[in-house]
Amino acid sequence: MNTKSRSETCRSPQKPLLIKHNHRFYSLKLSIIFLITFVLFIFFHTRFNLQTPPSWQWKSSIFNTNTKDLNSLLHKLRHSVTFLPLKDLRYTNEALQGHTWFMSYFYDTHQDGEVQYQQFPSQSSLGRVLCLKGHDTHDGSWNYYALAWPEALPYNTTFMKGLTFVSYNHYDYGNLWHGLSAMVPFVAWHKMNNCSLVPSRWVLYHWGELRFKMGLWLEALMDATFNGLPNIERFDDADDGPVCLEEAVVMRHNEGGMSRERRMEVFDLMRCKARMYCNVSLKGNKEINDNKVLPMIGMTLFLRTGPRSFKNETIVTDIFQKECAKVQGCRFMVAYSNNLTFCDQVKLMSMTDILISPHGAQLTNLFLMERNSSVMEFFPKGWLKLAGVGQYVYHWIAKWSGMKHHGSWRDPNGDHCPFSEDDRRCMSIYKNARIGHNQTHFQEWARNVLDEVRTRKMEEGLKKSTTTSYSGCGCS
Ligand SMILES: *[C@@H]1O[C@H](CO)[C@@H](O)[C@H](O)[C@H]1NC(C)=O
Ligand SMILES: *[C@@H]1O[C@H](CO)[C@@H](O)[C@H](O)[C@H]1NC(C)=O
Ligand SMILES: *[C@@H]1O[C@H](CO)[C@@H](O)[C@H](O)[C@H]1NC(C)=O
Ligand SMILES: *[C@@H]1O[C@H](CO)[C@@H](O)[C@H](O)[C@H]1NC(C)=O
Ligand SMILES: *[C@@H]1O[C@H](CO)[C@@H](O)[C@H](O)[C@H]1NC(C)=O
Ligand SMILES: *[C@@H]1O[C@H](CO)[C@@H](O)[C@H](O)[C@H]1NC(C)=O
Ligand SMILES: *[C@@H]1O[C@H](CO)[C@@H](O)[C@H](O)[C@H]1NC(C)=O
Repeated sequence: MNTKSRSETCRSPQKPLLIKHNHRFYSLKLSIIFLITFVLFIFFHTRFNLQTPPSWQWKSSIFNTNTKDLNSLLHKLRHSVTFLPLKDLRYTNEALQGHTWFMSYFYDTHQDGEVQYQQFPSQSSLGRVLCLKGHDTHDGSWNYYALAWPEALPYNTTFMKGLTFVSYNHYDYGNLWHGLSAMVPFVAWHKMNNCSLVPSRWVLYHWGELRFKMGLWLEALMDATFNGLPNIERFDDADDGPVCLEEAVVMRHNEGGMSRERRMEVFDLMRCKARMYCNVSLKGNKEINDNKVLPMIGMTLFLRTGPRSFKNETIVTDIFQKECAKVQGCRFMVAYSNNLTFCDQVKLMSMTDILISPHGAQLTNLFLMERNSSVMEFFPKGWLKLAGVGQYVYHWIAKWSGMKHHGSWRDPNGDHCPFSEDDRRCMSIYKNARIGHNQTHFQEWARNVLDEVRTRKMEEGLKKSTTTSYSGCGCS
């Protein structure tokens, strides 16, 4: 498919070099010799663990060399930086496990309950920085990575100052859910560093292929979280030469490894930052009904157009509106996800206690509601048996962000599938089907959820309101 000339395959390791000279000791020389020893060590140990630096010792013998030899050594060291393909095809079948197929020679740093990440330079990288090479947007095995000491960067390197976020996304930066999942670990790392470190640039990969865009919603959320629009690196200035990064953080496991508490903190931080960015009142629903005993309840029907929209929006709207009207303090809202800006969505969610919406990426917004808010989800026929575990993502994000998922309604009726109902081929018919309704069921369900939310809000109303300002958004 790609016929461009590809000459930069991995170079073979340099042969060890013995130096015997008797001159004065230079610390510079010594450090270079150490560097070379490390490089050799790495060549002989195909896989090393970033988490636990190798504990080995060498007998320190002092080699002495003259300047000419030193330059020659440095030259060899600079040439010996070995670039490996970003996508390691040997791990295609376990692309997301352990060290994954992306930068497969490295293991992540991981403390119990915390985000899994790689950081360069670090103690575990032996002070080396991360270097990248290649612009491929179709095949990640044509893009490369390597580690190099800042004193011995490969020739013709473009050195990029500042902090770089290197993201691996197995899916797509345009989709709200998949995009957000790839960003969560960066926010967690940011929070772990007391929100003091923000990226100068982002490098986005999908299967090792470069990506230059993220969706507008995601871009705005990152803008809000990191106090600036993400600067997505295109490597235009580097030609085909290597790029080395002064500081880099690599994420390839999304929220994996993080405890529930850590996940909630990350969503709390993003919610707070998003509201601040959009000038949304922190008080949300609380203030409006200040002098009444009954709390305000926001019920939002969040509609889609096209696939997985309701077949009859009029009647679905009517059912929920009527149930809302029966509860004092309930305010009913209807919105379409397709034509709301990021801030419209942030604002809407800040006023929503009960989010009613079909399964779809727009539900990712649910973490923007106040904690403990409620979600009601709707599926077309056939998803339960055929859609796999991915259909539960909004259960997961509800749990991670401290919301309450009140289950799903699954349409028992749907388009006819010529194969048996369990046949995988039916999924292509069911996937983007539209959703009907069951008036009795919707009414009962809405009544129960409203009842629960009202009780909770009344209990919460008795307690003193806690959050009064955005200051810091939970970051010290
Ligand atoms: C560095 O770039 C120059 C000019 O493009 C080229 O002639 C030279 O071979 C390159 N050096 C290495 C080590 O790639
Ligand atoms: C973050 O702040 C806490 C408390 O002030 C402090 O103990 C910790 O060392 C800080 N962490 C970093 C990475 O600055
Ligand atoms: C929020 O308010 C600030 C200052 O009043 C303003 O500059 C900014 O444009 C507002 N942002 C939004 C999204 O309305
Ligand atoms: C939706 O339902 C209402 C009430 O049952 C009915 O009057 C209307 O014709 C339906 N609309 C569509 C598009 O089916
Ligand atoms: C948003 O989109 C929906 C569905 O396409 C449409 O009915 C509605 O009028 C649109 N609203 C605005 C403000 O454009
Ligand atoms: C959410 O509900 C739990 C359990 O009822 C309660 O302990 C917690 O304080 C609530 N959180 C907020 C932010 O209201
Ligand atoms: C609608 O829901 C009710 C209550 O859950 C159930 O008893 C009834 O069978 C459903 N009707 C249809 C047509 O599925």
